[in-house]
Amino acid sequence: MPSSSSALPILLCGLCCILQQGRYGGAVHSFVLPLARTSSSSSSRKAQVQNSYYASAGAPAVDMSAYDLPLDRTIDEWTAVVQAPSSLQEGGVFLRAKNKELFVDTLQYSIRRAGGLGLILTEIAGGREDGIGITIIEEVLGDGNSARVGLVPGDSIVALSVSTTSRNGDVETTRVSTECLGYDATIDAITSLPPPTSDDDAVTLTVKRVRRQPKINVRLQYPPDTDEEDVTIELFAGENLRRAMLTRGIKLNDRLAERFDSGGSGDCGSDGTCATCVVGVVKGMELLSPMGQQEGQILSKKPRWRMACKAVVGYGMVEGDMTLQVNPRQW
Ligand code: FES
Repeated sequence: MPSSSSALPILLCGLCCILQQGRYGGAVHSFVLPLARTSSSSSSRKAQVQNSYYASAGAPAVDMSAYDLPLDRTIDEWTAVVQAPSSLQEGGVFLRAKNKELFVDTLQYSIRRAGGLGLILTEIAGGREDGIGITIIEEVLGDGNSARVGLVPGDSIVALSVSTTSRNGDVETTRVSTECLGYDATIDAITSLPPPTSDDDAVTLTVKRVRRQPKINVRLQYPPDTDEEDVTIELFAGENLRRAMLTRGIKLNDRLAERFDSGGSGDCGSDGTCATCVVGVVKGMELLSPMGQQEGQILSKKPRWRMACKAVVGYGMVEGDMTLQVNPRQW
């Protein structure tokens, strides 16, 4: 943890005094940022999996601020990784959450420039000659422009863009990236933006925010004659139910299932035709993604059944408790 500095140096950044340096700023160079290389490491894949959970959960149906973390926790959770370029994404240094139970959300805000942003920034990792580090928002000033849009302490600004209109009417957009920069490099990037030309000018801030992944507690009940004890597993919003159960060692495949395509038996591998993965939903149907047409037709006479391979838990980033019957044909 950074130690606080009694003096609070104020930075006049050339953009209408929009930023101040935070109380952790006096000790910035005592925190050296270790950079993890992820070009072929499992942590890279883990981060991608976390992001794909989030993407699979669909549009949030709840107030996502419920998953925000307090500043003290955020400071401990940010880290940076070097990502080699791949066919999926550009290379560079990116923010990540250390804990697999967290995810990094990306949010955008349009903020009026006149009067300043009203933010106190602080560097929580840095001390490198190349300027790489982690700078976060320490405080959102109550009377500033940022307080009106929803930025919170712990956010890290990763990009800013402004648009200016020339005399002949051409609109030019200038964008600077500030992801994984130390304090000084962040300020240098911000102050490189063209100055505002009117009171109505706005800057678009892209921030990354560490959030807790919504959890779904799933109680699994087995057919009575199997004498299997109920078990409870913890899933993250956005996980595919079948994959999540199999990776946690749950015996899911129903030997009584019959394929709908060929009439025989056998696992279709998530194709939605074998129904070996069907579960009975005793509680928490609302926590699953909506049924597709094919699944709806196949299970039309079983309104409480779902194909686990076609169901995403915590859909809409909703968390809660579920109870499922495994192999419901055998009850
Ligand atoms: S695995 Fe075949 S229907 Fe789900």
